[in-house]
Amino acid sequence: MKNLNPITFITSLIKITKGKPNIPISLENNALLKIIYNRRSVRKFTNDEIPDDIFKAILEAGRLAPSTVNLQPWSFAILSDTEWKDFFEKPLPFHAKKAIIILGDVHRAMKVIPVAQNTPLVRYTLAVMNASLAAMNMNIAAEALGVASVMLSDTGYGGFFHSKFLSEKLKLPNDVFPLMTIVFGYPDGNYPPMPPKFPLDKIQFKTEYKETDQDILDDWILQMHAGFKVTNPFSTFQAKLNYYTSNLERAEKELETLIFKK
Ligand SMILES: Cc1cc2nc3c(=O)[nH]c(=O)nc-3n(C[C@H](O)[C@H](O)[C@H](O)COP(=O)(O)O)c2cc1C
Repeated sequence: MKNLNPITFITSLIKITKGKPNIPISLENNALLKIIYNRRSVRKFTNDEIPDDIFKAILEAGRLAPSTVNLQPWSFAILSDTEWKDFFEKPLPFHAKKAIIILGDVHRAMKVIPVAQNTPLVRYTLAVMNASLAAMNMNIAAEALGVASVMLSDTGYGGFFHSKFLSEKLKLPNDVFPLMTIVFGYPDGNYPPMPPKFPLDKIQFKTEYKETDQDILDDWILQMHAGFKVTNPFSTFQAKLNYYTSNLERAEKELETLIFKK
């Protein structure tokens, strides 16, 4: 891998700033595309409260998401910033105003459709796949209403990295899996630039899987390191990766217990 040095740092930052969504001219005024393409994970929020009707509309987008056999295998734990602080004894990350802990939930449907009894991995996959769609629906609905958000699998007991802790704390029954927390608020300042996304022609193929060229991967990882440095001057992307790696074995064991009831 190429190293991040002053030159690759600058060139990577230039590449990041040049990265833009590709919107066909004929569709450039399409309101929904604009919302989807311009969405960003936001980590800085104002102190403004999200009005109840707005937040309810976001939740409704989650409720109405598509799901396998309409199983709706999800539950949402919903907390305001003050409720979060009381419950977890630490502030909601990024001073967000609301949090939704997304739980993949096959427990509910299994009570009346006990078809996936002996297939724990299938049950888990159904839960993850479908609850993530509900999460994304809420994320996009929020954007449409001017509310920004970020999904968290980690920070502040966010999700699957802390599945044992969350299962106990939220008293989750079998087959309910903590996945992520979405935190919401009004954005403080401009949206961050788009992080490096792989070009469309590098992620698609017709009939045979296509390996991504090494230079594309090198370029991407350099941009990830450089972008991280700008937003976190006192840390490095490598330190973040090391942190994740050191937590993975614990997370893996906890998940195995939850999925296979070991
Ligand atoms: C399932 C999921 C988990 C994530 N977990 C975290 C997290 O723990 N901390 C964080 O700062 N961002 C987290 N993110 C946000 C990603 O870092 C972000 O989506 C990615 O860098 C791309 O940026 P964009 O959302 O602005 O396109 C998560 C995103 C997803 C979808």
